[in-house]
Amino acid sequence: MNNVLFISDLDNTLIGNDQALEKLNHILNEHREKFGTKIVYATGRSLFLYQKLTQEQSLLLPDALIASVGTEVYLDIENEKMDPDWANFLSQYWQRDKILEITHQFSELTPQPESEQGAFKISFYLAQPKAEAIIKQLESRFKQTKLDVKMIYSGSKNLDILPKPADKGLAVQFLQTKWEMSDANTIVCGDSGNDIALFNTGKPRGILVGNAQTELREWYQNNRTHYRYLATQNYAQGIIEGLHHFQFI
Ligand code: GLC
Ligand code: MG
Repeated sequence: MNNVLFISDLDNTLIGNDQALEKLNHILNEHREKFGTKIVYATGRSLFLYQKLTQEQSLLLPDALIASVGTEVYLDIENEKMDPDWANFLSQYWQRDKILEITHQFSELTPQPESEQGAFKISFYLAQPKAEAIIKQLESRFKQTKLDVKMIYSGSKNLDILPKPADKGLAVQFLQTKWEMSDANTIVCGDSGNDIALFNTGKPRGILVGNAQTELREWYQNNRTHYRYLATQNYAQGIIEGLHHFQFI
């Protein structure tokens, strides 16, 4: 058995069923000890909200944390030190003030709390019925102003604006290069819109948990392939099911 690069979203993917999480933690920890498997969390949360979560849930210490929807990578979580290579790369593509000039003109966008406004991430709440139309309008305003940004809508309520070359999937590729891991040995798990990039960047093995949100399910139905698996079970239990499916365990 080779070592594996195991990447999982946190909210409603790894987290949601405490008993199943405990079982999965045990499996992953053994895999790491035996084969040198790397464990990475890829979350929309800031480092601040991630640390809050670690006080509420029993999570293994990961080998890296991808935070703020892929705009921050931490290899040294305890020292809260963002990976400088990733940050330097993204800073070339980021014009925060220009983006805010445009978003300020949309009263439908409600800013998320200060902790969730990252060095390379601006986040809003945006209610569902109007979301699609607003995102289209924003898109054309950004285009007019020649602002090359990425918008990700998740959980039918969160709108993240990121630098063009940032998302969870691109951050995973950054780690794959660093650790010399291939797609065949990479497994990604998720439940919502901001996880599409995890499944859709390269060809890693993908596990969608059974409780996946509509936006991800719809995407999956249109993008089915042998290396993506929609589990029947939810949360960590769905991940365990997927690890069996791909014969990683
Ligand atoms: C997390 C983040 C939030 C983001 C959402 C979706 O909840 O805290 O800022 O909008 O994930 O990516
Ligand atoms: Mg999630």
